[in-house]
Amino acid sequence: KVLILDFGSQYTQLIARRVRELNIYCEIHPFNKIPTEIESYKAVILSGSPMSVRSEDALHPDLSQIRGKKPLLGVCYGAQYLAHFSGGKVAESNTREYGRANLAYVKDNELFLEHISEGSQVWMSHSDTIKQLPTGGQLIASTQDVENAAYKIEGEQTYAIQFHPEVYHSTDGKQLLENFLVKIADVTPDWTPNAFVEETVEALKTQLGDDKVVLGLSGGVDSSVAAMLLHKAIDKNLYCIFVNNGLLRKNEFTDVLKQYEGMGLNVKGVDASARFLDALAGESDPELKRKAIGRVFIEVFDDEAHLINDVKWLAQGTIYPDVIESVSATGGPSATIKSHHNVGGLPDFMKLKIVEPLKALFKDEVRRVGASMDMDPQLLGRHPFPGPGLAIRILGDLTEEKVRILQEVDAIFIDNLRSWSLYDKVWQAGAMLLPVNSVGVMGDERTYEKCVALRAVESTDGMTADWVNLPYEFLQKTSNEIINKVKGVNRVVYDISSKPPATIEWE
Ligand code: XMP
Repeated sequence: KVLILDFGSQYTQLIARRVRELNIYCEIHPFNKIPTEIESYKAVILSGSPMSVRSEDALHPDLSQIRGKKPLLGVCYGAQYLAHFSGGKVAESNTREYGRANLAYVKDNELFLEHISEGSQVWMSHSDTIKQLPTGGQLIASTQDVENAAYKIEGEQTYAIQFHPEVYHSTDGKQLLENFLVKIADVTPDWTPNAFVEETVEALKTQLGDDKVVLGLSGGVDSSVAAMLLHKAIDKNLYCIFVNNGLLRKNEFTDVLKQYEGMGLNVKGVDASARFLDALAGESDPELKRKAIGRVFIEVFDDEAHLINDVKWLAQGTIYPDVIESVSATGGPSATIKSHHNVGGLPDFMKLKIVEPLKALFKDEVRRVGASMDMDPQLLGRHPFPGPGLAIRILGDLTEEKVRILQEVDAIFIDNLRSWSLYDKVWQAGAMLLPVNSVGVMGDERTYEKCVALRAVESTDGMTADWVNLPYEFLQKTSNEIINKVKGVNRVVYDISSKPPATIEWE
């Protein structure tokens, strides 16, 4: 495996994803928490950083266990770090060094030799520049504006590059990482989805033995893939619970439950709609709605888990981005924008041990692992859907009638996205029911009915998002169908706000 030391760059996770696309397993650790079993890593990559090596509180870990002992690649800040603290010189740059550049001079060397030619486009993003190479440094590449764009250290397997190989715009970036990891560091690229499934199933068998495990299925990709892995490992000892909170999409509870049964899962569907709707009655504050749903979910889940004799483990579909320890450049706590009810798990009183078979995977890897277990592509390709469901898309207080209206609207929107082959081009889509009545006319009658907003966004992780430019004809047809078919709605609008400053869900 490969170690990525994170100095807080916004691109650190991208490095990990590129490495894994090469079928090489890697882990991200904070720069100041180098793992003690360092022997088990075959190579190390130092990430970029928003900091400057020249600043007084520059991040400055002790690399004596690594430097000269293992293949080492410094990227951006990593490259400046290896220069500044080892006899080189880093200074503020006087030319702009952001965006595209081309490798203007490449000296024959292992890092660039294979399949990377002079002129290859690379992506720069830095305000400091390396003026003088460190002791033993040998220049291996420049660009027009950056003389010391890449260097190696004589007598060591230490390499440093000023540009970002991990970003898409560095055309040969992945090749460079492959050259470093496979050619130089001699890492075998054998970490495939199939291998992951095999290893994980074996590890789960050992870890769990004959113990019983309970898992909450949500209908989403992560919990479904986690369930499938556990099912392969422990079969009937996995007890899945799929709760209907009454806030799911139209027919979702019955359809998805059937699908889970078809996959051979030991699953129990629990219809707790009434309990959720009772708890939400009259509540219109977004945070209190979220908290009520979270609380009832835990109560329902706890009741169900207690019906299983002697259950020892709680399985969760936690994925890698949830567990990477982040390096905070600013240090301050961040504001709670929305309290996600399914992040952070269940409370201590459940006294169950936690098993998280996906916690090493990125979302796209979860999908690939699911595919390698022959899971239904439609299930694996589903848009994200929030834990509190339609409740946070119905602005203000909730009634059964409002849920029904929104389910109908949502179904038309999503079905149309599918039939226009737009579903897979959109990262997430849904409809919001606004607490607004407006005047309309149908036939010769005046109407005074609800307004819905359609939202479709593109994103990679939900942290930032932009609205999708859906074809006018599509919007026209969908709007028409909604107003004609869904009783109680006489107006449809399309949300054209990006995140930030808006969020994806309206509550
Ligand atoms: P926002 O509205 O914060 O949403 O821009 C970002 C992403 O998170 C989803 N979301 C949730 N997911 N539990 C979840 O599992 C929640 O409580 C929750 N709230 C929002 C939202 O659908 C979007 O994908």
